[in-house]
Amino acid sequence: MSTVTIIDSLSDAIKLRDLNYTFPGSSLPVLSIPAWQVARNERVFLQGESGSGKSTLLGLLAGLQLPTLGEIDILGTRMSALGASKRDRFRAKYLGVVFQQFNLIPYLSAVENVLLAAQFGTSDRVGARQRAIELLERVNLPSSLHDRKAAALSIGQQQRIAIVRALINEPSLLLVDEPTSALDHNNRDAFLALLFDVLADMECAMVFVSHDPTIGQLFDRHVRLAELNQVGGRG
Ligand SMILES: Nc1ncnc2c1ncn2[C@@H]1O[C@H](COP(=O)(O)OP(=O)(O)OP(=O)(O)O)[C@@H](O)[C@H]1O
Ligand SMILES: [Mg+2]
Repeated sequence: MSTVTIIDSLSDAIKLRDLNYTFPGSSLPVLSIPAWQVARNERVFLQGESGSGKSTLLGLLAGLQLPTLGEIDILGTRMSALGASKRDRFRAKYLGVVFQQFNLIPYLSAVENVLLAAQFGTSDRVGARQRAIELLERVNLPSSLHDRKAAALSIGQQQRIAIVRALINEPSLLLVDEPTSALDHNNRDAFLALLFDVLADMECAMVFVSHDPTIGQLFDRHVRLAELNQVGGRG
């Protein structure tokens, strides 16, 4: 198996230039961002209204799509220079992504969902399982639920599994799309506190997107997508 691109540890976590994205078949762009950067280890809260393009931007940052125009460098690697399978390997190795719908496999257990994402590399399967269990415990998912099917867990519990799945490979960049079926404020605050606690001893940048402007005090930086994006007449 060929190895994935080696990342440059001095480059920004994210660097965009003249980014433009138009969905295939559509005539109008959704995103037009002249420039944006996120430093290594920086935790950014990106707020935007529903439909403003947050999930679209995260999909581009994750290399799931390529920009229509412009450049996206993630950890110093130009996404458009990698073919689809190299981008998949790059994502698996260096990025953690939490999708708005979590994308858990409903008939697999909490632990199995996490292990599906685990890259074994030098560590073994038993070690990965141990690490999955430790992380699930750190996000307060009790061990009695570790073997329960994802479909039989609450949204908040599924969110915690999705975070653990995104962190299992110790990514350098974590991309989190907040679920629209929002947790109540107490649960959300508790979840954010847990997330920052787990991240505290990791060298990991984060972009956390939400439509809710009230989140944000835990983050290094609070950005409104409308300030970055020239589409929509607000730029
Ligand atoms: N596959 C697609 N084809 C065409 N247009 C799309 C597609 N997916 C999304 N869009 C449009 O792109 C815009 C941005 O969508 P996106 O899902 O990025 O918004 P969002 O900010 O994540 O919203 P929300 O807060 O509701 O999740 C919307 O106007 C949406 O209708
Ligand atoms: Mg979205």
